[in-house]
Amino acid sequence: MPDMSHSGEHTVSQQAAASLSVEAVNLTYQTARGPLEALKGLSLDVAPGEFVSLLGPSGCGKSTLLKLVTGLISPTSGTIRLAGNPVRGPRREVGIVFQQPTLLPWKTVLENILVPIRAMGIDAGKKRMVALSLLETMNLAAFAHHYPSELSGGMQQRVGIARGLIHDPTVLLMDEPFAALDALTRESMTDELQRIWMATKKSVLFITHSISESIYLADRIVVLSARPGHALYNLAVDLPRPRTIDTMSDPRFSSLAKQLREIFHEMRQA
Ligand SMILES: Nc1ncnc2c1ncn2[C@@H]1O[C@H](COP(=O)(O)OP(=O)(O)OP(=O)(O)O)[C@@H](O)[C@H]1O
Ligand SMILES: [Mg+2]
Repeated sequence: MPDMSHSGEHTVSQQAAASLSVEAVNLTYQTARGPLEALKGLSLDVAPGEFVSLLGPSGCGKSTLLKLVTGLISPTSGTIRLAGNPVRGPRREVGIVFQQPTLLPWKTVLENILVPIRAMGIDAGKKRMVALSLLETMNLAAFAHHYPSELSGGMQQRVGIARGLIHDPTVLLMDEPFAALDALTRESMTDELQRIWMATKKSVLFITHSISESIYLADRIVVLSARPGHALYNLAVDLPRPRTIDTMSDPRFSSLAKQLREIFHEMRQA
């Protein structure tokens, strides 16, 4: 057994190992009505290849956290690291999938996937094969030359996921990616995402308001407090993969769901 008693060294090596680490982050927005604390003392991390679901009440700072990780805004204090390196501006290790697919209607599916590549100044021709192979992974190979309006909501969101992965990020950030979909499409997208994640082995930070979706997908669930957001609970999801329809009747699934419902019930009473 290696000696772990030198806690300082141990901490550093753990930080280096995490794909994403958020360390004691505070974020205060300056608004016309004065300062607004969105996050206060938020710490969490995502290990390489780990799927972490982030649950928290509306307005607790989840989307703010994503803006911080992409380097769009900077924390008031604290540090965000990607693979151990502090984020100090836009970073290519990160891919994002939003609630709405936000595809450009005048571009084909293939061209839409290549949009971030052009924005990064990379030759899109070189990434064409990557885009086509991602479309294959998304079960959309036949739709490369279709326009977004010819696709269903679930298909458009899969294009959104392919676009988030096109530059081969190590961390995929997803902000309620299935919230705009109908319940049945949402269930099949959850399965799709599990399959895509198992195939690509990305680190994922997945924001959702759905307790069952969070359990079904995650290795670990982080629950944030009401604003100003900080991590309240860290729950490991000890369920075998791939998760299937049977997973939902596993007693461990029900017990986690109950635990999470109680946490949110208590938060509402507070
Ligand atoms: N650009 C901004 N300027 C000022 N205040 C902001 C800004 N963006 C967000 N806020 C405020 O910060 C808080 C956190 O917002 P955020 O969008 O991060 O919450 P959220 O957890 O994503 O909520 P939801 O679950 O509803 O999407 C809210 O009170 C919001 O009004
Ligand atoms: Mg949000």
